[in-house]
Amino acid sequence: MSVFQPNSRYRAWRQSLPARGLRWIGRKMPRGLYARSILIIITPMVILQIVIAYVFMERHWQTVTQRLSTAVTADIASIIDIIETYPQDADYEEITRIARERLRLNIAILPPDPFPPPTAKPFFSILDDVLQEEVTRQIGRPFWIDTVGDSNLVEIRVRLEQPEKVLRVYARRSQAYASNSHIFLLWMVGASLFLIVVSILFLRNQIRPIQNLARAAELYGKGRDLPIDFHIRGAREVRQAGLAFLQMRERIDRQIQQRTAMLTGVSHDLRTILTRFKLQVALLGDSHETEELQRDIDEMQRMLQGYLDFAKGEAGEQIGVVRIADLFERHRNEASLKNCKYTVSSPKGLSIRGRPNALARMVGNIVTNAFRHASKVKATAVDDGQDIVLWVDDNGSGIPPGKREEVFKPFIRLDEARNQDESGTGLGLSIAKDIARLHGGDIKLEDSPMGGLRATVRLPH
Ligand SMILES: Nc1ncnc2c1ncn2[C@@H]1O[C@H](COP(=O)(O)OP(=O)(O)OP(=O)(O)O)[C@@H](O)[C@H]1O
Ligand SMILES: [Mg+2]
Repeated sequence: MSVFQPNSRYRAWRQSLPARGLRWIGRKMPRGLYARSILIIITPMVILQIVIAYVFMERHWQTVTQRLSTAVTADIASIIDIIETYPQDADYEEITRIARERLRLNIAILPPDPFPPPTAKPFFSILDDVLQEEVTRQIGRPFWIDTVGDSNLVEIRVRLEQPEKVLRVYARRSQAYASNSHIFLLWMVGASLFLIVVSILFLRNQIRPIQNLARAAELYGKGRDLPIDFHIRGAREVRQAGLAFLQMRERIDRQIQQRTAMLTGVSHDLRTILTRFKLQVALLGDSHETEELQRDIDEMQRMLQGYLDFAKGEAGEQIGVVRIADLFERHRNEASLKNCKYTVSSPKGLSIRGRPNALARMVGNIVTNAFRHASKVKATAVDDGQDIVLWVDDNGSGIPPGKREEVFKPFIRLDEARNQDESGTGLGLSIAKDIARLHGGDIKLEDSPMGGLRATVRLPH
C-alpha cells in the first residue's frame, strides 16, 4: 500500500505566497453550494461586462467623442476666423446670431480680462482631454475650458488677437460628447441582471435536491425520521447519491434488526434453560453449594436481562419531545432512598426531540451510577446553541483516566470488589452510549469540579 507522503517541494509550495493567497481566498469564499454556484455564474459575467465596457469606451466612445469635439472646435475656429478677418458691427450681433442659429453655439465677445483660474479636472475626463487637444490643434491660442460646471454645457474661452478680446462659447455637452452611450451600458447591465435572475431560479431547482439529501442524511445520523416529502429527484448524479443513501439506510437498519433478533433469540433461549436450571437447583435442597449456585444463576439471569434490554435498544420507539428537566426529576425519590443529595438545574423549557424511553434509560443509567458511587450528585443541562449538553457531576471516587474508555464496553465493572452487594451488570454505560449515538450525540467521562466523575452527554438539536 502506498501512503501519501508530502515531499519537501509540496511543503515549500504550501508555504509560498501564491499558495497562501489561494488558501486565503478559499477561506473567504462562501461555504454553501448555492452561494458558490451563483458566484460561479456571476463572476465570469461581471468580468465579461467589464472587458466589453472597457473596449467599448476605449474605441467607440472615444472615437465618437473625438469626432464631435473636432466638429465643434472647427466651428469655433471658423467663428474666430470670421471675427478676425471681417469687420464686425459694434455688438457682434450678426456673428452671435449666426453662431446661435446655424451652429447652435452661444457666443459672446468679452473684454480681454485674464482667464478664471483653471477648474478641477473631472474624474471621468475623456471629453476634457479630447477637447483640449482639439482646441490646441485647431485654434492654437491661449484658452480656458470648463467641462464640469454646468452639466449640460461646456464653456470654452479663447483669447483673440485682433481685436483684443476674449471669445466665450457655450456649447451643449451633447454636441461635443458621445453622451448617450449609457443606454448601451444600461442594456448590458439590464440583460445580465435578467440572466442572473433566470439562472438563480434554475439553480434553486438543481440545488434543492442536494440540500434535501444532506438534511435527510443528517436526520438519519441523529436517529430521527426522514421528512415525509423526501423523494429522490434532481440531476442524475444527485439521484444516484439519493438512491445510494436510501439503500445504505436500509442495509444498516436490516443489520441492526438482525443483530437485535439474534441477541434476543439467544438471550431468550438461555433464559428458559436457566429457569429450568434454577428449578433443578431448588429441588436439590438447601446447602452451601446450592446457595452459591443459586447466586450465580441469579447473576446470569440479570446479565441476560441486561443483554435483552441492550439488544432491544428502543431503536423502534417513536420520536417524541422530551423535557430535560423531567428526565432528571424522575430520580428524586431514588436519591432520597439512597440518602444522596441530588440537585437539578435545567432551563425550564429545554427539551429535545428523540425517543423518550431510550433517553430516560440513558439518563437513568448515568444518574444511578452516580448515586451508587457518591453522596452528592448534580445534574445540569444547557443549550450551547449547537447541542444540548447534559452534565452529571458527583463527588464520589471517580474513574481513573485510563479506565474511562473501558467502562463503556459491555459487562465491564470496575467496582466488583468495592460493591459486592450491588446488583450491576456493567451494561449501563454501554447502553447509555448506544442511545446517545442513536440520537447523533455522544457521552464522555471527565473529572468533575465536585471531585468525582463528570459524565457529559451531547445531543444535537
Ligand atoms: N459515577 C461513577 N463514579 C465512579 N465509578 C463509576 C461511576 N459510573 C460508573 N462507574 C464505573 O463504571 C463501571 C461501569 O458502569 P456501568 O453503568 O456500565 O455498569 P454498572 O453500573 O456496574 O452496572 P449497570 O449499570 O448495568 O447496573 C461501574 O461498574 C463503575 O465501576
Ligand atoms: Mg450503571
